[in-house]
Amino acid sequence: MRSNINRIYYFSGTGNSLRAATVIAQVLGNTEIISMRCDPSEVSAADSDIIGFVFPVYHWTICEAIQDFISALKINSDAYIFAVSTPAFINGFSFETLNKLLDEKGAKLQYAKRVFSVANLCIVYPPFPSPRLRVPATERKLIKVSRMIQKRATNAYAKAGWLTRLIYPKMMPKYRAIQAEVDKGFFVSDNCISCGVCSKVCPKTNITMKNSRPTFLHDCSCCMACVSFCPKKAIKYGLPPEQLQKINTLFMRMMRLPDKRKRYHNPHISANDLMIDRKYIH
Ligand SMILES: Cc1cc2nc3c(=O)[nH]c(=O)nc-3n(C[C@H](O)[C@H](O)[C@H](O)COP(=O)(O)O)c2cc1C
Ligand code: SF4
Ligand code: SF4
Repeated sequence: MRSNINRIYYFSGTGNSLRAATVIAQVLGNTEIISMRCDPSEVSAADSDIIGFVFPVYHWTICEAIQDFISALKINSDAYIFAVSTPAFINGFSFETLNKLLDEKGAKLQYAKRVFSVANLCIVYPPFPSPRLRVPATERKLIKVSRMIQKRATNAYAKAGWLTRLIYPKMMPKYRAIQAEVDKGFFVSDNCISCGVCSKVCPKTNITMKNSRPTFLHDCSCCMACVSFCPKKAIKYGLPPEQLQKINTLFMRMMRLPDKRKRYHNPHISANDLMIDRKYIH
């Protein structure tokens, strides 16, 4: 028998996508929101009539962790399937990549929207546009998009523009190729109080506590959760020279985290929220 619980799967480092998933779930009701950190075989959507995917955009597409999760997830191919991305500016190939994965399962992406959000890559830049202005605008947009999903709206999703298609192969694959090892640049200062928050918010379970200190396992998504939620700002960043030599571009040279740089996380989302893998919203 069909349970008809709606399921929304999210990936989130700094909370924008978890916030989006939460708002949509509140509007829909009877919805479970599930972190893509879960084992996909344990969180199947084979019996859901509404299935959603909510995620950030990394390097103009969806990251490998999201792609692997969706590939392995069982879904009801007749369900109403929607996606909400939370890019700062460039959505790129995100929806095309997702639709391809769904297509392989005999399913179709029926509605997909970008909800522009604060850019969070604090090891390269401070948060922008100003969270004070952008967060309320994002909240308003989220409500509109949620109501469209509630009505089971359909659309022709946004595709990558011609300029993105032209530049992408020259620029982005090299960054994606080293993403898992980007954590070689993280180091932990003496301010660390061994609270373990960084390891619990990591959506990749890429941080383990060894001798009461975080250790990075080099399967990183570069999501910024650990840096942004550390209560002591104890996680610093500076790429070691051997990493820099691999790709010596301006972008890579910019990868540093000055002490004064603002960290960002969505103001509606706490570290505790990100530690919960599954949550049912009535
Ligand atoms: C490694 C990395 C790469 C990113 N690449 C893009 C991008 O290509 N286009 C874009 O618009 N935003 C990009 N962003 C910004 C995030 O997509 C955006 O801040 C998102 O809302 C973060 O979601 P979260 O808070 O749920 O983690 C990038 C962020 C990170 C950490
Ligand atoms: S969150 Fe910060 S203070 Fe807590 S264990 Fe991690 S690095 Fe240390
Ligand atoms: S180690 Fe930090 S940046 Fe990398 S995936 Fe985990 S929380 Fe994100």
